[in-house]
Amino acid sequence: MLKNNRHDLVSAQQLDTEAVLHQIKLATAFQNGLQIKLRRPVYAMNLFFENSTRTHTSFEMAEQRLGIGVIGFQASDSSMTKGESLLDTLKTIQAIGVDLAVIRHSKNAYYEPILAEQLTLSLINAGDGSGEHPSQSLLDMMTINQAFGHFSGLKVGIIGDIAHSRVARSNAELLTKLGARVAFAGPDSWFPAEFSQFGPHVTVDEIVDQADVVMLLRVQHERLSTEMEEGFDASEYHERFGLTSERVERLHPQTIIMHPGPVNRGVEIDSDLVESPHSRIFQQMSNGMYMRMAIIADILSAKNLIEPIELGA
Ligand code: CP
Repeated sequence: MLKNNRHDLVSAQQLDTEAVLHQIKLATAFQNGLQIKLRRPVYAMNLFFENSTRTHTSFEMAEQRLGIGVIGFQASDSSMTKGESLLDTLKTIQAIGVDLAVIRHSKNAYYEPILAEQLTLSLINAGDGSGEHPSQSLLDMMTINQAFGHFSGLKVGIIGDIAHSRVARSNAELLTKLGARVAFAGPDSWFPAEFSQFGPHVTVDEIVDQADVVMLLRVQHERLSTEMEEGFDASEYHERFGLTSERVERLHPQTIIMHPGPVNRGVEIDSDLVESPHSRIFQQMSNGMYMRMAIIADILSAKNLIEPIELGA
């Protein structure tokens, strides 16, 4: 499934259309009760160097539901506080018997020196700085597929802090590969030129009037410069770039609202809209657990650590 000749998932760039559709099918099978059989005990460690609720919890839930042993890790209690590098930490846990490391880190592409070492332990990127968030992107594709049954020609508007969003990058990559038409909106200064390869920068109102999927992004306060943070006004942002109760009236009936979370209610989206009939925000979170089961099962399958999975046609 994965295109780096190893058993890791670090970037949406590894995934072609066939791989994405396979992951959606496998995640759906887990949602419908698929079980796997491990050939031997398997152990995972979730190393989160940035805060997380959804990703961390759903990876741990996925591991436990697959029968994998989850070994606890707290960055603040680890020997990394004594100067051990991430690479040496991974070599250490590999030597002790951990098969799979799920890592979130604030540094973009933190995984490159790790991949260069050809460890036997597998790596799943649970978010790297403003780089990529491939497991979020796959669960988002599952959620869109549940709503529409296809991707070809779907109009997807991604609104907000594009510059600092790993979700925007991974989703733009997969959506365009799958044949969707992507457009972006938000402050001009938060739209890096490199995103033009995926689609145009338009107004929030153009997206609201036309999109099948309105995908909102959290303002990434932790990645803003001091100057940007001091100049940020939440209510002004909500009026100019947020999904307000006035704007939602103009959505097509079939349009879905997505947000990777955590949501700043009243900033990128009016609080009442988080639970509106258009919203798929909590469905995204449920799908996340099944998609992470699928990602892990595929890696274990490639390593011959589970009995073959029969998915049918
Ligand atoms: N979507 C997402 O990555 O949320 P968390 O930061 O809570 O994991």
